[in-house]
Amino acid sequence: MHKSRINRRLIESIKDVEGVTIHKLYEEYPDFHIDVNREQQLLLEHDIIVWQHPFYWYSAPSILKEWIDLVLQHGFAYGREGTALRGKQVLTSITTGGRIDAYQSGGRNEFSIPQFLAPFNRTARLCGMDYLPPFVVHGTHMFSEEGIEEAARKYRSILISLRDEIFSMDEIMQCYYLNDLLEKSEKR
Ligand SMILES: Cc1cc2nc3c(=O)[nH]c(=O)nc-3n(C[C@H](O)[C@H](O)[C@H](O)COP(=O)(O)O)c2cc1C
Repeated sequence: MHKSRINRRLIESIKDVEGVTIHKLYEEYPDFHIDVNREQQLLLEHDIIVWQHPFYWYSAPSILKEWIDLVLQHGFAYGREGTALRGKQVLTSITTGGRIDAYQSGGRNEFSIPQFLAPFNRTARLCGMDYLPPFVVHGTHMFSEEGIEEAARKYRSILISLRDEIFSMDEIMQCYYLNDLLEKSEKR
């Protein structure tokens, strides 16, 4: 995080939003000893979970995988008795060095972002949660200060609109990226 340009600003933009809890896994658990009970309690206290991270090797930084492996326990998150997370919403918020044209069939990275995020999508849905389209900031290496500001503003507005249930689930699920959601309200 101390080297981050973009994620740091995205977090800055939402830290004063009522109802939002920011929980930085690398700062909480620098030794990777994740407190499973505490994490499960936090999940229970929230309706919308955002997995926010830079895109690393076409996936998440390793601590998020560790968190998923430990926290989404059988009997809590899945299995016959594991219903604690049912009905909650999850979304991935990522920043990528690669531009959007690199993330499509025939592009440099061959696959799309939703394709790369399939394990997160399936994981959420196995636990009975709705996996929303991702919020994505592409091409981070070329971002100007104004570009970062704009992305941060959009992120804040989108999270507030989810909190306030401004859009129907159908409208949300029709977006390729959640970034497109605000355009829907402009068209209304
Ligand atoms: C270890 C590592 C792996 C990365 N893997 C990818 C990748 O697979 N695809 C991509 O588009 N960018 C990749 N990047 C670039 C980062 O996604 C980019 O620098 C980051 O999103 C910028 O956000 P930040 O300013 O918050 O760090 C990688 C960067 C690092 C350090």
